[in-house]
Amino acid sequence: MADPRTSIISERLRRIRRIIAVSSGKGGVGKSLVATTLALNFAKKGCKAGLFDLDFTSPSTHLLLGVTDEQPREEKGLIPPIVQGLEYMSLIYYSSGQAAPLRGADTSNALIELLAVTLWNDLDFLVLDMPPGIGDAVLDLIRLVPRIEFLVVTTSSQLAFETVKKLVSLLQELKVPVVGVVENMKMTESRNVQRQTEAFGIKFLGEIPYDPEIEGSIGKPDKLLGTVLGKKIKEISQSL
Ligand SMILES: Nc1ncnc2c1ncn2[C@@H]1O[C@H](COP(=O)(O)OP(=O)(O)OP(=O)(O)O)[C@@H](O)[C@H]1O
Ligand SMILES: [Mg+2]
Repeated sequence: MADPRTSIISERLRRIRRIIAVSSGKGGVGKSLVATTLALNFAKKGCKAGLFDLDFTSPSTHLLLGVTDEQPREEKGLIPPIVQGLEYMSLIYYSSGQAAPLRGADTSNALIELLAVTLWNDLDFLVLDMPPGIGDAVLDLIRLVPRIEFLVVTTSSQLAFETVKKLVSLLQELKVPVVGVVENMKMTESRNVQRQTEAFGIKFLGEIPYDPEIEGSIGKPDKLLGTVLGKKIKEISQSL
C-alpha cells in the first residue's frame, strides 16, 4: 500500500511555486554555501523564500546563517522559524547535533516525516540543501516532491564533473528538470566544465571564483551577500 504520508507531502508543498534542490555528485563542492546564499538572495529581493537543510550527516546551513535559538513551533505540525527573512527548517532539529544519529530506513523515515509535518507558508522559492551524491535521500525526494528541480554544483575538477555526469544522467532518465550547473571555487580560466555541461544539453548557470573572504563571513549573512560569491549568486538567482 502507498505510504499515506506521500499525499500529505504533495498537499503540504502545493502552494510553493518552485522547489530547487541544490545538489552535487561529490561532497564538499559548496552546495550548502550556494543553497544558503541563493535563498538569502531570493529573500533580499522580496520573494517569499524558504531554506530546508536535508543533509543528515553534515547539516551546515544553520552555521552559515548564524542560527542561534530559533526553533520550529509545534501547532498541528511544525512551523518553521524565520531566520534572516527565510522560513528555515533543518534536520539538525531532529539530530540535535549528534553525528550520524540515523541510518538507512530511519533516515528515509525521518525525511518523509519532516516533509509531511512541516507547514510552509505560500512561498515563491523553497531551496533544498541536499546531501552529496545519489543517495537514498535524493531518490526519496524525487519520488515524493512534485515539481522538484535540480541545481547542480561542481568544482572545476574533472573528478567532480564525472560525478555530475552520473547525477545528471539519472535525473534525465527520470525526467526530473535540471535548472543548470554552477562551477564553484574556480581558480583558472578553463572552459572545460562549461563546455562539457553544454555538451550534455544542460544550462551552464555561471562560475564562482575561489574566494578567501568566505571563511570570515560564515554566520554573517549580510557579509556573505557582499562577497564575490554573494554577487555571483545574485546574478544566478536572476537567471532562474
Ligand atoms: N567559492 C568558494 N570560495 C572559498 N571557499 C568556498 C567556496 N565555496 C565553498 N567554499 C568552502 O568549501 C567548504 C565546503 O563548502 P560546503 O560546505 O558549502 O560544501 P558542500 O557541498 O555543502 O559539502 P557537503 O557535501 O559536505 O555537504 C566550506 O568550508 C566552504 O566555506
Ligand atoms: Mg553541505
